[in-house]
Amino acid sequence: MEKTFLMVKPDGVQRALIGEIVSRFEKKGFQLVGAKLMNISEDLAKEHYGEHKERPFFGELVDFITSGPVFAMVWEGKDVILTARNMMGKTNPSEAAPGSIRGDYAVQVSNNIIHGSDSAESAVREIGLFFKEEELVSYDKAVAVWI
Ligand code: GTP
Ligand code: MG
Repeated sequence: MEKTFLMVKPDGVQRALIGEIVSRFEKKGFQLVGAKLMNISEDLAKEHYGEHKERPFFGELVDFITSGPVFAMVWEGKDVILTARNMMGKTNPSEAAPGSIRGDYAVQVSNNIIHGSDSAESAVREIGLFFKEEELVSYDKAVAVWI
């Protein structure tokens, strides 16, 4: 089954949105297979956001993502990568649709609450960066037949 890496960023943790965000993905019908509250080191931040290292905001991005704990998660489900991106909303909260996480809870692009893998390749790479194999749990849910 497809997996994606999602992370409540430091602003989402500070604003007490972990429960709300987890709840949205649970209610949608996706399955949580790994999660942890953690601080991101500068090295991990630079690696995770490596694709943006030439961007003018790279320093700010690394400072922000290391500024407080994040809630890192792995979710599983059919088309979960794309669907989670749609549930998050556009990168800039001012363009994110109402009903999406960024559309409902964020104002500025630099504080947009949640990260989600943007492709199958990024999902594999990011899950590997944040989680050890043994930290992911494989289990069946009886309700799966109804989703
Ligand atoms: P992530 O899920 O966090 O990767 O966001 P994204 O995939 O929707 O956007 P992208 O990967 O293009 O950019 C990564 C992050 O950089 C965004 O989520 C923003 O928080 C941040 N970012 C993008 N543009 C700006 C900017 O102009 N200024 C600042 N400070 N941050 C920016
Ligand atoms: Mg991105």
